[in-house]
Amino acid sequence: MNSFGRILRVSIYGESHGAVVGVILDGVPAGIKIVEEDFLQDILKRKPGGKGTTTRIENDVPVIKSGIFNSFSTGAPICIEFINNNIRSDDYNQIVQFPRPGHSDFVAKKKFNSYNDHRGGGHFSGRLTLPIVAAGVIAKKILPDLKIRSNILEVGGNNNIEEALELAIEKRDSIGGIIECTVSNLPIGLGEPFFDSVESVLSHLIFAIPAVKGIEFGAGFSSAKMFGSDHNDTFIDASGKTKTNHSGGISGGLSNGNDLILRIAVKPSSSIPSQQESYHFGSGRIEKLIIEGRHDLCIAMRVPVVLEAVVSIGICDLYFINELKNI
Ligand SMILES: Cc1cc2nc3c(=O)[nH]c(=O)nc-3n(C[C@H](O)[C@H](O)[C@H](O)COP(=O)(O)O)c2cc1C
Repeated sequence: MNSFGRILRVSIYGESHGAVVGVILDGVPAGIKIVEEDFLQDILKRKPGGKGTTTRIENDVPVIKSGIFNSFSTGAPICIEFINNNIRSDDYNQIVQFPRPGHSDFVAKKKFNSYNDHRGGGHFSGRLTLPIVAAGVIAKKILPDLKIRSNILEVGGNNNIEEALELAIEKRDSIGGIIECTVSNLPIGLGEPFFDSVESVLSHLIFAIPAVKGIEFGAGFSSAKMFGSDHNDTFIDASGKTKTNHSGGISGGLSNGNDLILRIAVKPSSSIPSQQESYHFGSGRIEKLIIEGRHDLCIAMRVPVVLEAVVSIGICDLYFINELKNI
């Protein structure tokens, strides 16, 4: 569905080439100072324009429609909207009959009986991550002591990002990437047994980011190759700090007071600038496909701030649930 969260409830709406994309946040406490300028830094981090990103540049100005009065949250739902200005929908005319391999075009057409808005990927577009970033800004404001940072570890299997992007551009292809996110200053005990472990809640949110295909916490998949004696994180003090952090800051599904560390895999953009093949609904045959439109060649370049946003949202909700249970 398009809403997530128990107490901090985030709902997103809009389409890539519709009038707007936006977000409604319910459950934000009253009295948090929020002004338009607060959003600009994170919005800028998500903006394309750099190497390997789309040439569709929107002005991405946040319009606060409700829930903030005299620069403070009122306790009512906060609605923030972004107008879509830079649209070239004709680029997408062919995908109604000719779905892009690897994109949502085919499944969306089937599921919604062709009523889906196909333009620019419609509601499946990466553009929907803009209002998510705005929601993340507010979540970060609710929990100002949390330190959340994320960075790109590699793209196209190479930690030399410039080199990998150059190669993809030269090959007229797309590449994926791995992004790491670290959260410091988490209290001990966030997460709710059994089904709302920190890993479950964050994974649920993170897989909502289009093009995310994998996740690991702490030592993740390499844990399977370790001995327990190497994997176990030895406690070094009464606060629960550990010598190593193979658990990624989560034990038994609960935050354990050490840094929360996770990594995600982002796939290569499915809209590549080279010829491919696809099934054509009109002719009933497999035909040669050249994708039109403006696309990110390396989506991972734009995802770090989106990752921070969903992690902030998830932690905020878990924080509120924890508070409520401990009253
Ligand atoms: C910030 C961002 C930008 C994206 N830009 C593009 C793009 O330009 N072209 C494209 O084909 N996919 C792009 N995507 C990915 C698609 O939205 C995604 O692959 C598609 O909806 C299918 O979903 P799936 O890859 O999760 O299966 C982007 C995703 C994000 C998060």
